[in-house]
Amino acid sequence: MTQEEKKQRVAEAALSHLPFDGVLGVGSGSTVDCLIQALGSVRGRLRGVVAASLNSERRLCALGIEVLELNQVDRLPLYIDGADEANPHKHLLKGGGGAMVREKILAEAADRFLCILDDGKLVEALALRRPLPVEVLPLARGLAARRFTGWGLRPEWRRDFLSDNGHPILDLHGCAGRSLLELEERLNRLPGVVGHGLFVSCPADLLLVAGSRGVREVA
Ligand code: 5RP
Repeated sequence: MTQEEKKQRVAEAALSHLPFDGVLGVGSGSTVDCLIQALGSVRGRLRGVVAASLNSERRLCALGIEVLELNQVDRLPLYIDGADEANPHKHLLKGGGGAMVREKILAEAADRFLCILDDGKLVEALALRRPLPVEVLPLARGLAARRFTGWGLRPEWRRDFLSDNGHPILDLHGCAGRSLLELEERLNRLPGVVGHGLFVSCPADLLLVAGSRGVREVA
């Protein structure tokens, strides 16, 4: 089974978790694009959707699904998003698409966070194979890069890219083998860092993982 087919399968499997007549939060990325497509057939079951990215918002609007702002919503029963990597503790590495700041806000706002992914993204240790994306305020880009280098990491500026918030992203290489909880805390404390793609202190509640033999849950 191809990775595309796995994305379709896991997106369809996620439909059975939808709240009835509630508001759904959706993240971004190609797996979430499959979910959004699938939502078209069940839109009557939803009161509306809050989207974590402008791309997701556009796709939802094109299907005639009502898009709400987070500030209009008192309660978000469920948030569904993809990830670049997940470990057995349901800790995630996100931000390949640069939308992790809004994604983390929606994950925090939701009662439950369901992460949908294919089995190629399951890892024992996060950030061994991929860099950690960090969104920074434009004026803090140089300062942040120097601090990260001082911490023994290798920041790489994602050129020609701004997040939906209008901010640059530094991809941090060399995070492997570190305490990710400690790194998360350090990043959270550094002035100028808007957010980052480590979801260690805020893991998913449930993973839906698509493999060649079907979709399984990691609770
Ligand atoms: C975007 C994300 C995405 O969830 C992550 O990159 C996974 O994307 P895809 O489903 O395309 O593999 O964190 O910021």
